[in-house]
Amino acid sequence: MASPDRITLYEVGPRDGLQNEPEPVPAATKIALIDRLSATGLREIEATAFVSPKWVPRMADNAEVMAGIARRPGIHYPVLTPNMKGFAAALAAGADTVCLFAAASETFQHKNINCSIADSLARAAPIAEAAQAQGLRVRGYISCALGCPYEGAIAPESVAAVAKRLDRLGCYEISLGDTVGTGSPTKARAMIDAVAAEVPIGRLAAHFHDTYGQALANLLAVIEQGVAVVDSSVGGLGGCPYAKGAKGNVATEDVLYMLDGMDIETGVALDAVVETAWFISAALGRRPNSRVAQALRPDGP
Ligand code: HMG
Ligand code: MG
Repeated sequence: MASPDRITLYEVGPRDGLQNEPEPVPAATKIALIDRLSATGLREIEATAFVSPKWVPRMADNAEVMAGIARRPGIHYPVLTPNMKGFAAALAAGADTVCLFAAASETFQHKNINCSIADSLARAAPIAEAAQAQGLRVRGYISCALGCPYEGAIAPESVAAVAKRLDRLGCYEISLGDTVGTGSPTKARAMIDAVAAEVPIGRLAAHFHDTYGQALANLLAVIEQGVAVVDSSVGGLGGCPYAKGAKGNVATEDVLYMLDGMDIETGVALDAVVETAWFISAALGRRPNSRVAQALRPDGP
């Protein structure tokens, strides 16, 4: 299959990017980040997570962030909901999309949400049902789709089995996470082949962390298979608290530069994303973790 003509960039910086920051990030900074992202042409901006603040303290300001952002028509602001408590809070905060998260590795699932894969899917079912009854979109995440920090290699069939379950719960899209970034183009292709046998490829997203600098190569491999949604993080922010050493998601501006160069339409303005990468990096006291932001603005903001 040829590469798609158009790709949706699904921005995860405000959530995946900031959930593991060593120092607290003020809600006002997160709100300013999301508002800037809303002006770049992005249509999907994952805003926060309604998870336990005991587990992920950096997302404790979820309701404040949701109340503070200037929502623009045509843009979705998905949030993570690990349980019904999180779903109720997300609903009260006016979320339009909720994300369920499962893993293809039992050990990671325990470390991340303190239950088995089967239990996490059982926990996800009432959330999916309630969300759909309220007219919300439901997105599914599968972590460790290309390897696990605890278990090592993960069979593509294990990922496909979880994807099938999430599909049956009604997820409009399933995001396949290379949580630790250990994937290769060959492994990524094999994983997509297995999952696409269960869920149409048009409903799959690639969510690759760039720990080993392989994310763009892996993305190109799966885009050439027909994957048309890419999760990325402005400035390459991020890391998962339960995947030690996992670095940020692939940077939005790095993906965008590649897609622009391939004449694949995204509707997103590179300049505006680079400016936002510098904005949030400066707020965090560092330079963007992205080649493109550094190359286009070597002198900073
Ligand atoms: P638990 O400790 O088993 O659950 O955690 P619990 O029900 O016993 O709750 C513990 C405490 O948290 C209780 O408070 C609950 O009320 C409270 P206490 O009674 O002790 O005062 N609580 C909550 N508070 C606010 N909102 C909630 C909530 N739920 C419980 N929703 C639980 C289980 C799922 C809650 C916990 O493990 C959790 O929150 N985990 C989230 C972990 C997380 O956010 N990880 C990062 C996101 S996933 C990721 O990054 C991967 C991804 O990017 C894809 C990829 O890269 O692979 C998506
Ligand atoms: Mg992630």
